[in-house]
Amino acid sequence: MLAWLRRLLQGPASACLLLLLLALPLVAPTCPMLCTCYLSPPTVSCQANNFSAVPLVLPPHTQRLFLQNNLIRSLRPGTFGSSLLTLWLFSNNLSTIYPGTFRHLQALEELDLGDNRHLRSLDPDTFQGLERLQSLHLYRCQLSSLPSNIFRGLVSLQYLYLQENQLLHLQDDLFADLANLSHLFLHGNRLRLLTEHVFRGLAGLDRLLLHGNRLQGVHRAAFRGLARLTILYLFNNSLASLPGEALADLPSLEFLRLNDNPWACDCRARPLWAWFQRARVSSSDVTCATPPERQGRDLRALRESDFEACPPAAPTRPGGRARGNSSSNHLYGVGEAGGAPPVDPSTLYRDLPAEDPRGPQGGDAPTEEDYWGGYGGEDRRRGEVCPGPACPTSLDSGGPSQYHGLPGPLFCLLLLVPYGP
Ligand SMILES: *[C@@H]1O[C@H](CO)[C@@H](O)[C@H](O)[C@H]1NC(C)=O
Ligand SMILES: *[C@@H]1O[C@H](CO)[C@@H](O)[C@H](O)[C@H]1NC(C)=O
Ligand SMILES: *[C@@H]1O[C@H](CO)[C@@H](O)[C@H](O)[C@H]1NC(C)=O
Ligand SMILES: *[C@@H]1O[C@H](CO)[C@@H](O)[C@H](O)[C@H]1NC(C)=O
Ligand SMILES: *[C@@H]1O[C@H](CO)[C@@H](O)[C@H](O)[C@H]1NC(C)=O
Repeated sequence: MLAWLRRLLQGPASACLLLLLLALPLVAPTCPMLCTCYLSPPTVSCQANNFSAVPLVLPPHTQRLFLQNNLIRSLRPGTFGSSLLTLWLFSNNLSTIYPGTFRHLQALEELDLGDNRHLRSLDPDTFQGLERLQSLHLYRCQLSSLPSNIFRGLVSLQYLYLQENQLLHLQDDLFADLANLSHLFLHGNRLRLLTEHVFRGLAGLDRLLLHGNRLQGVHRAAFRGLARLTILYLFNNSLASLPGEALADLPSLEFLRLNDNPWACDCRARPLWAWFQRARVSSSDVTCATPPERQGRDLRALRESDFEACPPAAPTRPGGRARGNSSSNHLYGVGEAGGAPPVDPSTLYRDLPAEDPRGPQGGDAPTEEDYWGGYGGEDRRRGEVCPGPACPTSLDSGGPSQYHGLPGPLFCLLLLVPYGP
């Protein structure tokens, strides 16, 4: 080896080689002004510099780029290199992400765009092609809607943070490709309704946070297929009732929070009450708001005799669903909070339009039964009623934090020796 090197250095190429060796440090990628760079893995850290744009020249082969806590306003195609694995852009002032900005980032695993208070909309193609993306952070922006295809093809996604936006509605099949998703955070939005297929495809989902919305109705099949869900938060919404069948579709459920909703403990409570008689979950309180004589009681502690005056529970036909009359054949109107509701369900909705406000949907239009009634099926859980000695304990009051999914070792990478100016 040494002999080989000596021979090489004595040859005519030696001067050239020496020059090359000397020049190497100069050729090494320069670190942008005010940034700190690390060699292994190639990392550029430019956080908290009041940058109004992404630095023009970034070292090629950068794998981690930290640009959080600046004042960056827009992102354009051609800015980022295809070696990026981690891109942090949270707490900037992003309002525009031009189509194609992330298109060539096929290796990207984590993208944090959270806390950009002027980000109101996203192009449908924004995340196209990010097949390796595992975490997508879009919390605390100003998103009021999402394009239907926005999450198409994100087959590796495990963590999707959409909390604290202004989302009003989620389309059916919005998450259809996200079979590997584990965490879906949707709390602190303005959602009113969970429709039949809104969560379709989320076979691996572990926790679903929906608290702090304006939910009034949950379709009886809204949670179907969420076979691995263990945590469901629905507290602080406007739910007066919930179809027991929706919860019976969750065989792995362990922690359920339903507090701070205006629960109606009249006949509408029966499906949920019946589910609780068999359920083995750790649950929050479910305090009745109405009728006045039951106010303050816990829905779970009602008795069979409390439902004596109710019409018999509609049996659930396998593969079918109980039909309502056309006069009440509409989507909305579940959970009109306040006041004692009339006992006859057909009069509950008299102030509401007869037709589904989204237009005719043929014979399959959901009925009010789909949102709160019709419980009669067997749920899959039997045996012990919680609370009891074998029941799981409650979650700590803080609940999961938005960084739950962040791998700890990421932070260790920042401790490597810096180079650059
Ligand atoms: C960023 O701007 C704020 C407000 O003008 C200022 O207080 C802060 O020192 C600036 N930070 C840097 C790193 O320049
Ligand atoms: C942030 O962006 C908004 C709109 O794009 C703009 O009006 C505002 O001045 C920006 N704030 C700062 C501190 O640059
Ligand atoms: C998604 O999860 C499945 C099953 O756990 C696994 O086989 C597959 O490789 C995962 N896909 C990606 C892209 O991570
Ligand atoms: C309930 O949710 C609303 C948003 O819908 C939020 O503003 C409010 O602070 C929440 N209340 C509590 C007690 O968490
Ligand atoms: C609902 O439909 C049933 C059977 O079709 C009918 O007998 C009943 O009168 C209807 N009720 C109302 C309120 O329209």
